[in-house]
Parts: sequence; structure tokens; C-alpha cells
Amino acid sequence: MIIIMLGAPGTGKGTVSSLLEEKTGYKQVSTGDIFRQNIKEQTELGKIADSYISKGNLVPDDITIGIVENRLEEDDVKKGVILDGFPRTVKQAEALDTYLQEKGRKIDMVLNLTTPEDEIIERIVNRRVCSNQQCKAVYNVVMNPPKQKGICDKCGGNLTQREDDKEETVKTRINNYIEQTSPLVEYYEKKGVLRTEVVSKKINHLGKQVADEIERDIKNK
Ligand code: AP5
Ligand code: MG
Repeated sequence: MIIIMLGAPGTGKGTVSSLLEEKTGYKQVSTGDIFRQNIKEQTELGKIADSYISKGNLVPDDITIGIVENRLEEDDVKKGVILDGFPRTVKQAEALDTYLQEKGRKIDMVLNLTTPEDEIIERIVNRRVCSNQQCKAVYNVVMNPPKQKGICDKCGGNLTQREDDKEETVKTRINNYIEQTSPLVEYYEKKGVLRTEVVSKKINHLGKQVADEIERDIKNK
């Protein structure tokens, strides 16, 4: 099973992916998390990635494609994988198609999350993430606060704010999404694998409900 999470920054790709991982056992693979881990460890990849991410820009395709293809060779993703934040350009999508064709695998579902822009910005500036890389739980200090300020409910790790979650950088990320990633909506629609879900408090439809619905539909398939 291969599920792709598509959507602008802050639409809930990470939140829904990690709920789906818990429910299905399919492994969440987030390119953003891989880059952030490398930035923290100050690897060569981390230094390159940081020069793009800190400005809100995408990491070049050839680097990102290589990382994901290597990750897809590992045993823990053979049963199922939830690609959180990849592909993000048409070039990445075409490379993934070629790779999966060679392996005799296919994309089962592309989950396209959409959220009004004002809500996205409010969510992202209020986001805190667990600094424990084994946990990486996501909170929102307004909508979904931890029980104890600054401490992760799940593992007791410290909660931090992402470097690229400043309002100005978020706007660049949203513009890059519109220019470079949004063409993938049509790309996957044509392939008949797109499923769009509006995730918004305005219609009382949040990430948890989306994950419940997807889990139910996978089981009924
Ligand atoms: P990445 O880490 O993927 O960031 P992103 O796409 O900008 O998305 P986010 O992680 O910010 O948001 P999300 O949709 O996961 O939402 P979340 O669940 O956290 O990428 C970071 C950077 O890495 C990119 O900018 C790029 O530079 C680089 N990169 C990554 N992949 C790449 C690729 N393929 N190619 C090139 N470069 C790449 O939720 C957000 C907030 O909302 C949280 O506070 C959460 O608590 C809250 N929230 C979630 N759902 C709800 C809800 N329903 N109601 C209220 N609050 C909610
Ligand atoms: Mg994310």
C-alpha cells in the first residue's frame, strides 16, 4: 500500500500521517523530518537542506528523489508507506512513477488536504513539535495544547518551534506550494487516485476524522 499526502504547509499532512501509521502500521516517511534530522546532526545533506528550508524554498529535486528512493528500499516500508511531503514537484512525481514501475508497485491513494489560508497561518505559528526524534508528536498551543506547557504528553520530551515556522517564511512556503506543488493535484486526478479532503475547523472536519475515514475505507476495500 502506497499513500501520498499532498497539501499546502500546515494542512495536517504530518498529523494525519502519524495517526494513519498508528492505525494501519504503514510507515510514515516525511521528507521534511529527514531533512530536519540531518540539519540537527549537521550532516553534509543537512547543511545543503538548511540553506533552502530556512528560506522556505524546496530542496532541489535530484537530492530529494535520491533520498526517497533509498528510503523505499528499506524493509520497514515494504508492507505499506505513507509519503508525507513527497512528491512536491512534477519532476519528483515522474521520478516516483518510474521508480515504482521498475519495482512493480503502484500508488494506491493520493490524499490531498486543503485548508483556508488564514487557518493555515494560525496553525503553523502555534505549532510545537516534540524534539524527541523517535516521537515527533505535533501540538498546537491553542487547538491541541499539551497537558503541561512545553512538555510532550506522549514521551515527556521538550516541545520546540520549527525554524521555518515564522510567519514570513510560511508565506514563502505557501507561494512555493501554489507554484510548484499544486500542479500535482491535476497530475494525480488524471491518474484516478486523488482523494481531496477539506480539513478545517470552520466545517468541523479535522485531521483525526480524516484519518478515521481513511482507515475505515482501507479496511472495507
Ligand atoms: P515539511 O516538513 O513537509 O513541511 P510542510 O509541507 O511545509 O508542511 P508542514 O509540516 O508545515 O505541515 P503539515 O501539513 O505536516 O501539518 P501539521 O500536521 O504539522 O517540509 C519542510 C521543508 O522541507 C519544505 O519547506 C522544503 O523546504 C523541504 N522539503 C520537504 N519535502 C520536500 C520535497 N519533497 N521536495 C523539496 N523540498 C522538500 O499541522 C500543522 C499545525 O496544525 C500543527 O500545529 C497541528 O497541531 C495543527 N493542526 C493540524 N491539523 C489541525 C486541525 N485540523 N485543526 C487545528 N490544528 C491542526
Ligand atoms: Mg509536516
